[in-house]
Amino acid sequence: MDENNISFLGLGVMGYHMAGHLSKAGYNVTVYNRTESKSDKWLKDFSGKKANTPKEAVKDSKIVFACVGNDNDIKDICIGNNGAFYAMNEGSIFVDNTTASADIARLLNDNSKEYGISFLDAPVSGGEAGAINGVLTVMVGGQEDVFNIAKPYIDTYSQAVTLMGKSGAGQLTKMVNQICIAGLLQGLSEGIKFGMLSGLDIKKVVDVISKGAAGSWQMANRAETMSKGEFDFGFAIELMHKDLQICINESNKNNANLPVTKLIDEFYKKLIEQGYNRNDTSSLIRLL
Ligand SMILES: NC(=O)c1ccc[n+]([C@@H]2O[C@H](COP(=O)([O-])OP(=O)(O)OC[C@H]3O[C@@H](n4cnc5c(N)ncnc54)[C@H](OP(=O)(O)O)[C@@H]3O)[C@@H](O)[C@H]2O)c1
Repeated sequence: MDENNISFLGLGVMGYHMAGHLSKAGYNVTVYNRTESKSDKWLKDFSGKKANTPKEAVKDSKIVFACVGNDNDIKDICIGNNGAFYAMNEGSIFVDNTTASADIARLLNDNSKEYGISFLDAPVSGGEAGAINGVLTVMVGGQEDVFNIAKPYIDTYSQAVTLMGKSGAGQLTKMVNQICIAGLLQGLSEGIKFGMLSGLDIKKVVDVISKGAAGSWQMANRAETMSKGEFDFGFAIELMHKDLQICINESNKNNANLPVTKLIDEFYKKLIEQGYNRNDTSSLIRLL
């Protein structure tokens, strides 16, 4: 098995660029995307090959990456009809960059052993811009020896790659990330709206307070667009709702209290009902 051969399954907003970085780093990349036209577009931008199914895509690969939507999608790609696991080489590694539940990570990790392969849950943070610029943050769950083999490949699209613990720990870390963002965005929305209603120059306010204790990535990157009512970009509300549901389900198991996260998820549901499902998560301010 050639160590340079890799596969990437799912060329969405994130996967398209992540696969691109692997190609630019010199790996022989075989891509699979359910909608074939995206594979064709990818092959115009980067060098590699395309396959018609996950099973076909993974045949000669040392590492197989996936970045699809949710639990059902990743299960489908791995062990559904024409699933990747059925054709992966013994000793090869599946790296799942999807944001999904810790349960599905553990299930697929257990399942992978039956095929003589290894599985890492490796959700990412950093958004589309992070994927384009190859500076994602990757939180990984799985075995250390497997992580050490996969890390140089993951490095091609990341600025920080960290093993968080055993299988599922990557997804659990991503849940913490999403819980921290949800409440913060509501606070930012309320602050900006309050400032605007008070007649303050919001740009000036943000310039000043972002240097103090209120500063955050969201404030630096979203405050201006929020104050202008621009939300047609970024991280879609429907994905955040999916992520917060994963967090809430997990909290029912570990008995964590998530009163604010649950409230914000209700706000996102309201925005989705109003047709704003593809708007950026900072559009919480619309409800104020
Ligand atoms: N977008 C962000 O800013 C961001 C940031 C961090 C993490 N994430 C996470 O990263 C993952 C991907 O996000 P994204 O924004 O790239 O999503 P996306 O643009 O909607 O892309 C999803 C990809 O998954 C494929 N797919 C979905 N279900 C499938 C199935 N059953 N079988 C085969 N392929 C399937 C889609 O194929 P088609 O082209 O055929 O639809 C598409 O290639 C999500 O879990 C998301 O929560 C996203």
